[in-house]
Amino acid sequence: MQPLEGKKIVLGISGGIAAYKCAELTRRLSERGAQVKVVMTKAAKEFITPLTMQAVSGQPVSESLLDPAAEASMGHIEIAKWADLVLLAPATADLIARMAAGMGNDLLTTVVLATDAPVAVAPAMNQQMYKNVATQENIATLQRRGMTIWGPASGEQACGDIGAGRMLEPMQLVERCIAQFQPKLLQGKKIAITAGPTQEAIDPVRFISNHSSGKMGYALAEQAARLGAEVTLISGPVNLATPANVTRVNVLSAEEMHHAAMEQAPLSDVFIGCAAVADYRPAEIADQKMKKVDGSDELVVRMVKNPDIIAGVASLKQNRPFTVGFAAETQDVEKYAMDKLSRKNLDLICANDVSQAGIGFNSNDNALNLYWPNGQKNFPLASKQALAQSILEQINELTQ
Ligand code: C5P
Repeated sequence: MQPLEGKKIVLGISGGIAAYKCAELTRRLSERGAQVKVVMTKAAKEFITPLTMQAVSGQPVSESLLDPAAEASMGHIEIAKWADLVLLAPATADLIARMAAGMGNDLLTTVVLATDAPVAVAPAMNQQMYKNVATQENIATLQRRGMTIWGPASGEQACGDIGAGRMLEPMQLVERCIAQFQPKLLQGKKIAITAGPTQEAIDPVRFISNHSSGKMGYALAEQAARLGAEVTLISGPVNLATPANVTRVNVLSAEEMHHAAMEQAPLSDVFIGCAAVADYRPAEIADQKMKKVDGSDELVVRMVKNPDIIAGVASLKQNRPFTVGFAAETQDVEKYAMDKLSRKNLDLICANDVSQAGIGFNSNDNALNLYWPNGQKNFPLASKQALAQSILEQINELTQ
């Protein structure tokens, strides 16, 4: 059986020079069993003719939103419902901007708005246009809404520039389409993740907290959702957007995080404790803003221990999820991580040496050593996204 047998792909072509590659792309998709329905913007027709696309796809090409005859055969809603995947290739800066703005001012953008199929975007434009903050922000918006961005590649451009902005080659896009339809690694799995710092109130305007940015936990949530998991992200206060297809529960204090975690954990297959939970909280929270006391240069705030959230999850007697912890150490990483693994009864611990420059708390990169009761693996310095993928693959392997 062909890898794309029976798959219905709407190929949306916008007006960039890479459009000339769409005939090849369509042929290669069809060869692998896909049915391809082509939708073109007005500008796309300047680069490749609808007749060519009709000949290679074997289906009439749709181009107009307001053409009664075209709407009568297969209107924008039918096309949107027909699709198993909408692939926008090439996606120009203009098409990306219109989608980011939620516009429906031609057939292609209305199909994108009306579909519940996954939408993959293959950007293609001049490197400077691609680098432009407006384009970058628009792409980030599409990603946040759950669209997948394929490419762009770097290299020589039709305009003579060199840089990022080339559409991926047809066969690379075909490979992505095939991968898109593969069963997802974490499909059907429920994952709860804690992330970010906690805030422990002293009085109505002050709190004790830490520098955790939440980036690692958010990267895990984003990748887990991409791999098909149903993700609940229990988040302390951070400055990050909720990843696409992730349910976020906002908390402030460790006690609130504990409450949310104990509610989610028994419903989850996997629990990942990535939050930097404050170990202690002020014993009392003053009702009113505390005043400076004349004649005293000291203030003593009595602290009490917070619940250990992950240890609580790991000691669940019923519906205990596979429990994964993090450990940030400044020395003897393995010794302390192994100790934490057994003391907290975890199934896996991801440890990093935060004394090294450029990794850990606030950075975008990290290096991790993973330990589990009878094994270990080291992941050298990489982006938190790449590490998240590796951690999730390891979790998947250990939970088989
Ligand atoms: O003991 P330590 O704070 O180093 O352990 C780190 C691990 O324990 C992390 O996974 C963190 O999310 C979790 N933890 C927790 N509740 C606490 C303290 C830490 O869940 N009160």
